[in-house]
Amino acid sequence: MNEATTSPADRQIWAAESYEKNARFVSDLGAAVLEWLDPKPDERILDLGCGDGALTKSLVEAGAEVVGVDASEPFVVAARDAGLDARFMDGHNLTFDREFDAVFSNAALHWMTRPQDVIDGVERALRPGGRFVAEFGGHGNVAAIVTAMRAVARARGGDEAIAGPWFYPTPAEYRFMLEQAGFEVRRIGLFPRPTPLPTGMAAWLKTFRTPFFEQFGADMQAVLDEVTDILSPALCDTTGNWTADYVRLRVEAALT
Ligand code: BEZ
Repeated sequence: MNEATTSPADRQIWAAESYEKNARFVSDLGAAVLEWLDPKPDERILDLGCGDGALTKSLVEAGAEVVGVDASEPFVVAARDAGLDARFMDGHNLTFDREFDAVFSNAALHWMTRPQDVIDGVERALRPGGRFVAEFGGHGNVAAIVTAMRAVARARGGDEAIAGPWFYPTPAEYRFMLEQAGFEVRRIGLFPRPTPLPTGMAAWLKTFRTPFFEQFGADMQAVLDEVTDILSPALCDTTGNWTADYVRLRVEAALT
């Protein structure tokens, strides 16, 4: 995953072990977008926001020559430990020049809040005819979760702006950005993907939105309880299983 920070207070810190325990489903559910990529042996592929490299490994197993980049050092270390070519790089400032047949990204682009910079870097990284295949949070992603956090922050006089710092475009918005950079969009779509949370909502909130809860200091646990309580009727079933209201945007675009 790639960190996109708007301010130090909003900084998301990734811990590879916490991610393994509470968010392994992110890469497990990324298998479908790999079918859109359809990696070929000997293709050179960039995995943008590679995280700990779980999907990067699948690309290598398909015979591709793969470079992973991520803005989180713990993830880069974990990916290197898994034997991958992983580099520490912010997705807003990609430094590659016409060297990849494809750029792939799963569950990372919504963390990068200057999307046109990212798209321009992807364009520069690709050879003529290269393709860009990505899946990430689209318009409406985790809307219930963010709304509950905002409501609690507002009631307590907290900063509601850091409840949801992500980029969740509509297909029309993202298509426009890609076309601005010279891509031809081959297919693009938005679809709901209700996502079971094996370790529950509180663990999800703590894994992905710690900066929001930390602003409440000693009341952090009370705020966490309040948010989960508000969400329970909508996202928790009668046996205590939580499902997050994920919406995915999946896209394939190519340079002509
Ligand atoms: C997502 O994959 O949609 C996501 C993950 C963590 C925080 C927000 C969104």
